[in-house]
Amino acid sequence: MRVGVLVSGGDCPGLNAAVRGAVLRGVDVYGYEYIGYRDGWRGVRDNEFMPLNRAAVRGIAPLGGTILGSSRVSPLGDGAIGVSGLKQHMRDNAIDGFITIGGNGTQTVANMLFQEGIPVLGLPKTIDNDLVGTDYSFGFDTAVHIATEAIDRLRTTGQSHRRCMVLEVMGRDAGWIALHAGVAAGAQVILVAEHSESVEQIAEWVTKVDQRGRSALVVVAEGFIPLGYDTEITREGSDGFGRKRLGGVAEILAAEIERISGIETRATVLGHVQRGGVPTAFDRVLATRAGIRVADAAADGEWGKMVAARGERMELVPLAEVGGKTKHVPKERYLEVRRLFG
Ligand code: F6P
Repeated sequence: MRVGVLVSGGDCPGLNAAVRGAVLRGVDVYGYEYIGYRDGWRGVRDNEFMPLNRAAVRGIAPLGGTILGSSRVSPLGDGAIGVSGLKQHMRDNAIDGFITIGGNGTQTVANMLFQEGIPVLGLPKTIDNDLVGTDYSFGFDTAVHIATEAIDRLRTTGQSHRRCMVLEVMGRDAGWIALHAGVAAGAQVILVAEHSESVEQIAEWVTKVDQRGRSALVVVAEGFIPLGYDTEITREGSDGFGRKRLGGVAEILAAEIERISGIETRATVLGHVQRGGVPTAFDRVLATRAGIRVADAAADGEWGKMVAARGERMELVPLAEVGGKTKHVPKERYLEVRRLFG
């Protein structure tokens, strides 16, 4: 079997470990020949790929980023390679199927391709942890570690100056990074995309902390919408999938907190630091197991499915159950921590 592997969407730590897992299992156990596309679907469109054999994946598990490159080029839509172009590409290059490693947008597209008769398997990756069907996606644990460390650091400087510190983390539709890092580091306010709060309420929590002689730490997901605002706070431009670029909510909150409470406040945007660098051991293990499972799935002809971590098991879920959906922070998880705010 000849299988094409690609990474699409924003990168995350663990991608290389996943590719290595898929290659080791596929080559050793099933005798696959793999090719790795450069920059996701762009490489398919432009016929740019490299052999993915044991030598190509040697020692890559601890490396951040992706040896293949990634992009948000879609195979569908205006000017794209399209379904017929993809089928032609498969015939020309004797490709039996694709393994697409990606987040929400990628798995949605993978499902559309499968519905059009293209054999596709999905591997879930996203620091946002917002893919349904899987308990965790690799990349998330690393991002939470980085965000937790950032909060720990902001706390000491905040305390020295008796300032409120606001940290903005990624999470456009789901606030998992904010929730987990906030709990791990003991933030006094955690704001997520799924649940709105008024700036007055946030300032009240911050004031309560100040009255105890402490400096408040507020962690906010980029997709958080303060009560009374119509939509997320955005930057100019959009990404390759046409999604608006989020960012800037921390600055707005910092100004509002300072205005209402009179407490000096500073904003920090963690940004792409969350997506870079070496994966945690947890993410390496999760990614490797996901790679192994996807190689098995191809051997079993389980096309149209995505690998999913469920408890201790790596299972398969139909892409149709994943595409276009978001795994939100449930209300009860938010309310559980909200009682501790302030
Ligand atoms: O990977 C998803 C994500 O981390 C979102 O939380 C964020 O909005 C987006 O990536 C930013 O990615 P980029 O700057 O690469 O478009």
